[in-house]
Amino acid sequence: MPCTVIAGGFWGDEGKGKIISYLALKEPLDLCVRTGSVNAAHTIWYQGKRYALHMVPGGFVHEKCRLLVAPGCNVDIKSLLEEVELTGVRDRIGVDSQASIIEAKHSEQDKASAHLKGIGTTGRGVGPAVEERARRTAKLAKDIPELKPYLTDVVAETNEAIDKGKNVLLEGTQGLLLSLYHGTYPYVTSRDTSASAICSEVGVGPTKVDNVLVVLKSFITRVGAGPLAGEISKEEAQKRGWFETAAGTGRDRRVAPFNFDLARKAIMVNGATQIALTKLDCVYPASQGARTFGNLPAEAKQFVGKVEKQMRVPVALVGTGPDALDLIDRRD
Ligand code: IMP
Ligand code: MG
Repeated sequence: MPCTVIAGGFWGDEGKGKIISYLALKEPLDLCVRTGSVNAAHTIWYQGKRYALHMVPGGFVHEKCRLLVAPGCNVDIKSLLEEVELTGVRDRIGVDSQASIIEAKHSEQDKASAHLKGIGTTGRGVGPAVEERARRTAKLAKDIPELKPYLTDVVAETNEAIDKGKNVLLEGTQGLLLSLYHGTYPYVTSRDTSASAICSEVGVGPTKVDNVLVVLKSFITRVGAGPLAGEISKEEAQKRGWFETAAGTGRDRRVAPFNFDLARKAIMVNGATQIALTKLDCVYPASQGARTFGNLPAEAKQFVGKVEKQMRVPVALVGTGPDALDLIDRRD
């Protein structure tokens, strides 16, 4: 560490939640800041229980980790408060006073728009809430009595923690190819999803970041409309063990094999210093549960080597199963 940004390399759902939960326990993390909004769900398996978190940072699994919601976030109050109870983090979570609020009308507008339906949004109201913020008429967290107990200055807390050398993680959401600027426009989300934008949403300058960890899944998925090179059928995806449904909306995810050109773009735009390669066990079943590189089958080792060679960035972490600890850590 001390200040790491974690960003998705494809269309989200690369397994960021699992990587964050591992780092939270391993480092351990002192502070974890969530960016983005409720359109994104981070799935975490911990102690036999599955969590799909839309607001609470994935660092919650380490009970001493301070949890923050960034000023650039759009907060869904109901989801936030439900997840605070579910994870039992009431005494260690803070929300920046300047985070903006998603209201019921935003979700209604999202679902009622034929244009947004064509893009295949999650319907959670994030796009209309962002529009309202740009119009400068949005409600902010500081306007909401229910959020009073949680209000804090996330910018000050995060920068002070970094200056003291604490282990800080800036938790990105979604993936580069959903970025408003760098993705497959108009089939994208309503924000930039790159590492720089994650820093900006939190209020941390680029000189304070030590590490940019880009998460790539060993195959590619996307939900909603838009191009997907090399897309395979649902039947074929099921046969290969690559079929998934969305953690947030339950929709089928579309599937394609790993794509080196797309990965290269994600590495470039994010300025990656490390790669986390997830779900290797879905492509090479004999990798399941491996916790050392030596225990991987030869083909899986070759794939990891090829990713490293083509990206010119080390594959530091390799995911081999759903649990936070099903992972190969190659950093030392
Ligand atoms: P919106 O972000 O709800 O406006 O949806 C815009 C596009 O981004 C749609 O294709 C969604 O499926 C996609 N999207 C938004 N958030 C996520 C995510 O966390 N994972 C995967 N796809 C997402
Ligand atoms: Mg997700």
